[in-house]
Amino acid sequence: MIERIRIIGIGMGDPLQVTGEAARALATVDVFLVADKGEVKSDLVAARQAVCDALIPAAHAYRVVEVPDPRRGPDAERDDTAYDRGVRNWHAARVDAYAELIESLPDSETTVGFLVWGDPAFYDSTIRVVDALVQRWAAEGLEVDHDVIAGISAPQLLAARHRIPLNRIGAPIHITTGRRLVDEYDPALGDVVVMLDGHLACAELAQAHPDVELYWGAYLGTPDELLVHGPLAQVVDEVRRVRDEARERHGWVMDTYLLRPPAGAPAVAGPSGFPETAPLTDGIVTVRPVTAGDWQVLRDEHNNEESLRWDFFGQPHTDERAGQLAAQARREWRLGRAARFVMVDAVTGEGAGVINVMRMGPPGLGLVGYGVLPDFRGRGFTTRALRLVARWAFEEAGIERLELGHKAENLASGRAAAKAGFSPEGRLRQRLPNPDGTRSDEIYYALTRDQLSPEDGA
Ligand SMILES: C[S@@+](CC[C@H](N)C(=O)[O-])C[C@H]1O[C@@H](n2cnc3c(N)ncnc32)[C@H](O)[C@@H]1O
Repeated sequence: MIERIRIIGIGMGDPLQVTGEAARALATVDVFLVADKGEVKSDLVAARQAVCDALIPAAHAYRVVEVPDPRRGPDAERDDTAYDRGVRNWHAARVDAYAELIESLPDSETTVGFLVWGDPAFYDSTIRVVDALVQRWAAEGLEVDHDVIAGISAPQLLAARHRIPLNRIGAPIHITTGRRLVDEYDPALGDVVVMLDGHLACAELAQAHPDVELYWGAYLGTPDELLVHGPLAQVVDEVRRVRDEARERHGWVMDTYLLRPPAGAPAVAGPSGFPETAPLTDGIVTVRPVTAGDWQVLRDEHNNEESLRWDFFGQPHTDERAGQLAAQARREWRLGRAARFVMVDAVTGEGAGVINVMRMGPPGLGLVGYGVLPDFRGRGFTTRALRLVARWAFEEAGIERLELGHKAENLASGRAAAKAGFSPEGRLRQRLPNPDGTRSDEIYYALTRDQLSPEDGA
């Protein structure tokens, strides 16, 4: 009768790479369940058996039961949704197969072990399957304990064999699959580890990224281990040849690799952020970067009749949403996506509105958006804030041209822009959606760096 399930990472099949904790756990298991994935990978089943033979004391009786793995459709031709659905169905079929087997165990067998190749945390569904089993039994009133024992995974062994760390100093590591690689690869990701790549997807990147370094390894941890390292464009053909030959010999191949931007490339070339700024003021209005504490100003600027009327959707912000927007502002600023300022009454310190600059389109362009709380309307706050922010954008943030637009009916918005020096550039027909499903024309304005007059920031 089942009492406990242990999910044990066993590394890459060499008993020497099984951790002491895993070895100890192995010796507590009555029945090991291993997925039988068919003939081609029977060497892997044999490797698992070798681990048990080497590490479980002779006095401890155990059984290994192979559970036929439910069939999975062809992944390569599926789009992401079909792939996801296929994997979920496959998991569900696995849960059923394991439940049936475990429920039929004799009373003397209380501890079931799953031997997981590498580490259970890397592209392995055992933890999800066991979670589903445990929940299913809990719903029936049966409490089953379970734990997870870490193992050495393929990326760790790849790094060890190539004698490299996987990350560069303080930089992230992106781990992905061959299926996703070509769509998502960008040198700005930094170091990218690729697993589950049946087709050596990195070959498709060689032309665009010839100097990216490839650290490739196959059959890691086995006597047949293969390693290749070099600039992608130079070594990818060799990797393909070596890989094809090995697959021919073994009937299967398991490989993983690291793509590392060439030496000298910036650690993580993220988009350049907006420069930090102290509060900007003309003595009447102050603008300063939005912080998490400004959420009520963001909420109140949005949640009033006038603002909702000019909004695209007319939906008020919940407090939670306003909190999220305010909390994200620092990150957007650092990433250079948006410089969000809160307008403050310089005398009383009260929040009066918001004004934003978003980077958009060709380099050097900034799109401005703004809104003032009802109590502060008609007092010239927007014009003052626009002047302060425009000067900062041109002088500090590398912006050459600021653009803004308003719904044709929103005359007050246009007046504030014109007073701040923006010139109308035209009418864009039916450009902006209204909450009632109709669309409004947009009046477009711009201000260029050379139009900024010296007194604008005063
Ligand atoms: C289903 S995932 C399992 C990963 C495993 N849980 C781990 O921690 O490494 C299988 C993928 O792991 C990588 N892999 C597993 N064993 C490997 C080995 N001996 N050498 C190279 N890559 C291996 C390959 O990318 C393979 O497609």
